[in-house]
Amino acid sequence: MKILLVGNGAREHIIAQKLKDSPQSIELFCFASSNNPGIINLAQGYKVGDFSNENIISYAKENNVDFVFVGPESPLEKGLVDDLEKVNIKSVGPYMELAQLETSKSFARQLFKEYNIPVNPEFKIFESMDGVEEWLLYLEENFVIKPDGLTGGKGVQVSGDHFQTMNEGMALISKLIENGTRVIIEEKLIGQEFSLMSFSDGEHLVHMPCAQDNKRALAGDTGPNTGGMGSYSFSDGSMPFISDKELKDGQEINLKVMKALKEKTGKPYRGILYGNFIATKKGLKIIEYNARLGDPEAMNVLSVFKSDFVEVCLGIIEGNLNEKKVEFENKATVCKYAVPQGYPEDPIKDETINVDSIDTSKVDIYYAAVDKREDGIYLTGSRAVAIVAKHEDIYEAERLAEEEINNIIGPVIHREDIGKKKLIEKRIEMMNKLKE
Ligand code: AMP
Ligand code: GLY
Repeated sequence: MKILLVGNGAREHIIAQKLKDSPQSIELFCFASSNNPGIINLAQGYKVGDFSNENIISYAKENNVDFVFVGPESPLEKGLVDDLEKVNIKSVGPYMELAQLETSKSFARQLFKEYNIPVNPEFKIFESMDGVEEWLLYLEENFVIKPDGLTGGKGVQVSGDHFQTMNEGMALISKLIENGTRVIIEEKLIGQEFSLMSFSDGEHLVHMPCAQDNKRALAGDTGPNTGGMGSYSFSDGSMPFISDKELKDGQEINLKVMKALKEKTGKPYRGILYGNFIATKKGLKIIEYNARLGDPEAMNVLSVFKSDFVEVCLGIIEGNLNEKKVEFENKATVCKYAVPQGYPEDPIKDETINVDSIDTSKVDIYYAAVDKREDGIYLTGSRAVAIVAKHEDIYEAERLAEEEINNIIGPVIHREDIGKKKLIEKRIEMMNKLKE
């Protein structure tokens, strides 16, 4: 079987690894925007180019692939899956219309409203400043500003966090509106966030373990938002700050969303449904949905995935996911990203890193924003290398990941608090207080 993987981050590196781990014999091809040394080692064919549908489809046809696995969101937004279907190539990844669940925050909020899925905060969508002030006053100045489009996790601004006063908020909104951007202004939710991803064939879902990403750049949840500095998952597949009922609710919500999408568009959602939930005093709400695997959460869930990943992909494509065996190990995982100094605002680029001293019997290494050149592995300005450890005990997994990430030589930094007892207990305590 021939499979084309689109993308070249750490998420795609672990996807490539899982495809290659399949007992079925596969030939792997990758369409990438830079040389990921990990994927290059696993793939029979590797092409670097612009992620246009035309370029990707021509590479898929050239290699006569059986299906395409779309890693990141941008090709989904451009309708890659729809265009591949026109030339009879199947994909793991949703059609453009369905990917709006991620690519348009207003589409997602309106879908939940229309289908009575009670996961929305109070929200309103604005295309001019008319009524903005009244809305902010109604929300009692606790609000979140979201541009309506893909922002790489860096476009959302939260009151009390990214800005302090109502006037500062008004100025940010007015700048977006002046640039012609549609803006969603919503109630600021208080609680603990987690990711619950499910494989979807359009009719059936298979849920993955939950994971918690840590988006702020610096220890103690300070600094700007990033794509995600690291994440962890627990051996029971849940989160220590949610109840069994909340876990079930989350799984049920993913199912309702899949069904709502089918009803609204008439099309099956084939790919990964990724709910970014927040557990609040009033139950689970949705921060956003993504239409792909999370990065870094893919490293958590796929590290404990122990079935045949190719079979899961075929189940997604063929609509018989319910007949596939999908099992996860009962182990905790900790993933920490090494990022260039200065990330995300002013990252060091074009300098090399060396990972040769990492003990790969203790952790796994997944390459992200790096470029392998003749004389070394170069930083390209975003999250560079993910270090992943798994263990029955999450704190032991953290210790291993922390020990080994410190063996990277080069101008990179990481968050040492991710997965430590202090941070996790702080989150549990916050939730306990909230529910009092
Ligand atoms: P997003 O790009 O939608 O993932 O948002 C980035 C981050 O902003 C989220 O991970 C949350 O921490 C925060 N955020 C987004 N929406 C809300 C909300 N309604 N209430 C509180 N925080 C939010
Ligand atoms: N972990 C955040 C994301 O994948 O969007």
